[in-house]
Amino acid sequence: MLIKIKSDREIELLKIAGNIVYLTHQYLKPYLKEGVTTNKLDTLAENFIRSKGATPSCKGYQGFPKTLCISINEEVVHGIPSNRKLRNGDIVSIDICVCYKGYHGDSAWTYAIGDIDSDKQYLMEHTKKALFKGLEQVKANNHIGDISHAIEEYANIHHLGVVKELVGHGVGSSLHEEPDIPNYGKAGSGPKLKEGMVLAIEPMLTWGSPDICMLDDGWTIETIDESPSAHFEHTVVVTKDGYEILTGE
Ligand code: MF3
Ligand code: CO
Repeated sequence: MLIKIKSDREIELLKIAGNIVYLTHQYLKPYLKEGVTTNKLDTLAENFIRSKGATPSCKGYQGFPKTLCISINEEVVHGIPSNRKLRNGDIVSIDICVCYKGYHGDSAWTYAIGDIDSDKQYLMEHTKKALFKGLEQVKANNHIGDISHAIEEYANIHHLGVVKELVGHGVGSSLHEEPDIPNYGKAGSGPKLKEGMVLAIEPMLTWGSPDICMLDDGWTIETIDESPSAHFEHTVVVTKDGYEILTGE
């Protein structure tokens, strides 16, 4: 198992990439309204990312055709932008990955379109809190399993499903590096965190059963019971006493 420790220069580039991801989320927010097509959001994001001197990491990744992964309601991850229009009451996860001078940033956020029902509100609120519960465990000398366990425990307390097949990951000169970071597991298990590791933590929680399937498009993953799912993700660097978010303000 090789988990890379990033140099100061690499962390500087990862910070720039992360910031472009953050700025892209902010740029898209005013467009997240009933009636907009997911293709329109994708084009806006691609142009914005390129205007910042970066490239969209997902476009062409294992043949993925677009810049953004946009996953609506029961879709968990990897939804492909299309002519589909957002509707009042949808929850929409937008996953943005960019590459700047060879280094990646990765962050997903779930947004409400208009008025959403209380189940979706609850799911979104507690999936976001689960991310921060996981982040609280990020510090040198803790273990990956501490992050995993904190997320799972928080989800269990709130009676939300934890998607098991999809995991967080290291981030660097590749979008997906070691280690895998499951959203469930035993405290104290797995590799030890060290200063300078860069990690994407990304709980994907469901209102109902966490079981998932892939659609015929070969990408979109959704819940089998078609209950809604939410996804919040930040890329962070491990520091001596904690972490710094690279994809935030
Ligand atoms: N953030 C997504 C992930 O970590 C990125 C997927 S890129 C895609 O899985 F091309 F696979 F969509
Ligand atoms: Co990711």
